[in-house]
Amino acid sequence: MRYAYIADNTSLSLHFHTSRFTDFCMRKIDGKSVAAKVLERVGKDVSELQAKGITPGLAVVLVGEDPASKVYVGSKVRKCEELGIYSRKISLPVETTEAELRAVIAELNADSQISGILVQSPLPGDLRKIEDDIVEDIDPQKDVDGFHPINVAKLVMGDKTGFVPCTPAGCIELLKSEGVELSGKRAVVVGRSMIVGKPLASLLLNESCTVTIAHSRTADLAAVCREADLLLVGVGVPELVKKDAVKRGAYVIDVGINRVDDPSKKKGYRLVGDVAFDDAFSEAEAITPVPGGVGPMTIAMLMQNTVKAAKLQNG
Ligand code: GUN
Repeated sequence: MRYAYIADNTSLSLHFHTSRFTDFCMRKIDGKSVAAKVLERVGKDVSELQAKGITPGLAVVLVGEDPASKVYVGSKVRKCEELGIYSRKISLPVETTEAELRAVIAELNADSQISGILVQSPLPGDLRKIEDDIVEDIDPQKDVDGFHPINVAKLVMGDKTGFVPCTPAGCIELLKSEGVELSGKRAVVVGRSMIVGKPLASLLLNESCTVTIAHSRTADLAAVCREADLLLVGVGVPELVKKDAVKRGAYVIDVGINRVDDPSKKKGYRLVGDVAFDDAFSEAEAITPVPGGVGPMTIAMLMQNTVKAAKLQNG
């Protein structure tokens, strides 16, 4: 615990200004332990479903040989196994055609063993151009990524029967784990992607935050960020957000995972977020580290969505 000296001169009293020491605690938010709690809950739900003869099932479709995607898919399948969720990994060659991929999705939509379908992104080659169409092929009730337009609409409408994209859902879970009262807070989301920024802004709005979305064209980004009680950054630019962009006492959620060259490391690189950690750590009330912050939450929320899908499909 560290303490910050705060001169409180905002008092309405005309006679004296007070000053006080306040417990101003700068700490790391431990994504691994929050994810473990989510997974414990999911594991219990799986057991309850199994007692009723229902086994949730996740299909993960991987097209091509992208090494990072292979790692992600492997960890999703392993997590399913740990939790007693049935999983099916469908590895398709890089030359898979649009028609072949759509046929696979159609089969999975019709398969009662499969509660959730995830097509690992990015798709290779020309398939990348039709990623949105592929997502629209997935039955919205099996769209555990929450990328289908029906689920996007449900999120904006605040309809809880939809699926929320895993990474933004994980960010909210992290804030809630900190016991932060979200209602009425100034939230600034940096990034406007369909996977992170836009859904995150909707979630924060649904929690009654006052939300600003900043992005690469935002004028004076640091000044906008400095307004934030809650600063959430997902742009994929290493250490874009520096000390001058963090209000003292803010909660900072860093979604970025970027490799930067570092010859002193065995692998030749290190991972950094979109926020300069040491800078922000000295200002923030609490901040997620990279790695070990948002990362572990994404997979936990995917498991939660898969169980939700099984429940929805089984009344
Ligand atoms: N690639 C990287 N993250 C994700 C994700 O959350 N979902 C999908 N479908 N692909 C990804």
